[in-house]
Formats: sequence, C-alpha cells, structure tokens
Amino acid sequence: MLERSRKINPGAAVPLRADRRRQRRFPRLPDGNMASDRSDSAAPLLAGCALWKQGAEARIYRGKFLGRAAVVKHRFPKRYRHPQLDEKLTRRRTVQEARAALRCRKAGISVPVVYFVDYTTHCIFMEDLVGSITVRDHIVTTQQSGDNPESLGGLADEMGRILAKMHDEDVIHGDLTTSNMLLRNGSEGPGADLVLIDFGLSYTSALPEDKGVDMYVLEKAFLSTHPNTESLFQQLLNSYTAASKKAPAVIKKLDEVRLRGRKRSMVG
Ligand SMILES: Nc1ncnc2c1ncn2[C@@H]1O[C@H](COP(=O)(O)OP(=O)(O)O)[C@@H](O)[C@H]1O
Ligand SMILES: [Mg+2]
Repeated sequence: MLERSRKINPGAAVPLRADRRRQRRFPRLPDGNMASDRSDSAAPLLAGCALWKQGAEARIYRGKFLGRAAVVKHRFPKRYRHPQLDEKLTRRRTVQEARAALRCRKAGISVPVVYFVDYTTHCIFMEDLVGSITVRDHIVTTQQSGDNPESLGGLADEMGRILAKMHDEDVIHGDLTTSNMLLRNGSEGPGADLVLIDFGLSYTSALPEDKGVDMYVLEKAFLSTHPNTESLFQQLLNSYTAASKKAPAVIKKLDEVRLRGRKRSMVG
C-alpha cells in the first residue's frame, strides 16, 4: 500500500520501511542529508579521513594522501535539488575549484596544492595547511584583544596585493570573504603567507566590471563581519590599486556597483 501511494505521488512524505531502516543506520546530518547516502560512493575514498568541518556545500575531511597531510573537500549530493541539476552544479564547482587553484598556482599566487580530484564523487584532495587560521578569525581575535588595530595594516596590504595579482590573471574568485583566506603561519606581518581558498564559484574574465563586483562582494562581507574596519578596507583597496595597472578601471566599476547597491536599498 505504501509502495503504491509512493508510486502515485513520488513526493509523498510517508517513509518506506526501507527508508526508515536506512535512516536508523545513517542518521541525518544538519544539512538534511544522510551521513551516508548517494554520497556512499565517496566512502572508499574517504576511508581513513576524519570529518573536520561541515558546510552547506561541502564537507571538509582531514587525512593523508600518499603520506602527506591532506584536506579533502567533498561536495556531497543535495537532496533538495533535482539530481541531474545537482550533478551538473556540483561537477562544475569541483572543476572550477581545481582549475582556478592551478591557474593561481602557476601565477605564483598562494593556494593549497591540489593533489587529486575525483570527478565521480566530487572530492578534491589538497594540501592541508596545518596550523593555519582564517583571516576572519585573526581579525576577530585581534579586535577582541584590543590590540592596536593598526597591526592589521600589513595584512590589509597583503590582501590587496594578492587580489590584484589574482585579478591580473583574470581569475574572478566569486566568493571573496575573510573566511576564504588563510594565514599559513597563523599570524600576519611582513612574513604573512596569505593563501586563497574556496574557488568553487570562480570563473575567468578580463572585465573590470566582474573584478569590481568581486571586490564589492568582499567589501560587503568584510564590513559586515568586522565592524569599524572601513579604514582597514580602504587600506586594502589602496594596496590593490598600487599593485596593478588595471586597478583604476576596477575601482571605478566598484564605485558604480556600490552606487547601484545603494539606489536599490533606497528603493526598497
Ligand atoms: N587546504 C586547507 N588547509 C587547511 N584548512 C582548510 C583548507 N581548506 C579548507 N580549510 C578550512 O575549511 C574551511 C572551509 O573550507 P572552504 O573551502 O572554504 O569550504 P566551504 O565551501 O564550506 O566554505 C576553511 O574556512 C578553512 O578553515
Ligand atoms: Mg569557504
């Protein structure tokens, strides 16, 4: 009977007995997916890896790849999406992430080394930046400790430089936030080794407009995550401008995008 009502209405909420059995075996994760499900196929690859972080888009595992400390980013299937659309989006993001990382690396921009990509299970094995912290955490801690916020100036300069270099390679990151930048040695300063991560939404474009929007996304994220950092972000933009001949056109576009954003918020 249950079988039949399922067939008539595939979206019916009545769980089949088999589903219930599966749910007991594989408890639901916060994202609504099963701990093991269609992503079962990734299980052999992830054997020996430990789940470290869970995001909306991917799970981050830590383990080894050919003896080296590795982070595995697994883009698991999203059950709320149509399976074919999900497969297409997930595949595209995995491809973009690996491709942009390679492009940046060739240009001397610090990104984790990609060790191995499995396009069937959508897993990326990459260098584990052991001991690194996100720029977000670093700024938050510095602000909380009441340290001189000027100590973050060197970091802002470095961020401006690395982003100018990335844009000069025509790589648009697509999701610039302070959580998607790591400090390799866990601290800022002249020796700060800033590493860019999370290139799943990236693409290539030479258009100043696309680069301007990239910087706008960062500005929005930066100022909302870190209150009272307007002058710090301006320092980042100054360093960005000093580092690239193409920057003035980008900053002009950034101004236009800001204006558009403001008009939109005024209209409602
Ligand atoms: N190669 C790496 N080395 C060390 N930590 C990493 C690495 N890649 C990701 N992380 C950590 O995992 C977090 C999430 O990774 P990210 O690629 O940004 O995934 P998401 O798409 O879920 O945001 C990062 O903010 C960082 O703390
Ligand atoms: Mg991220």
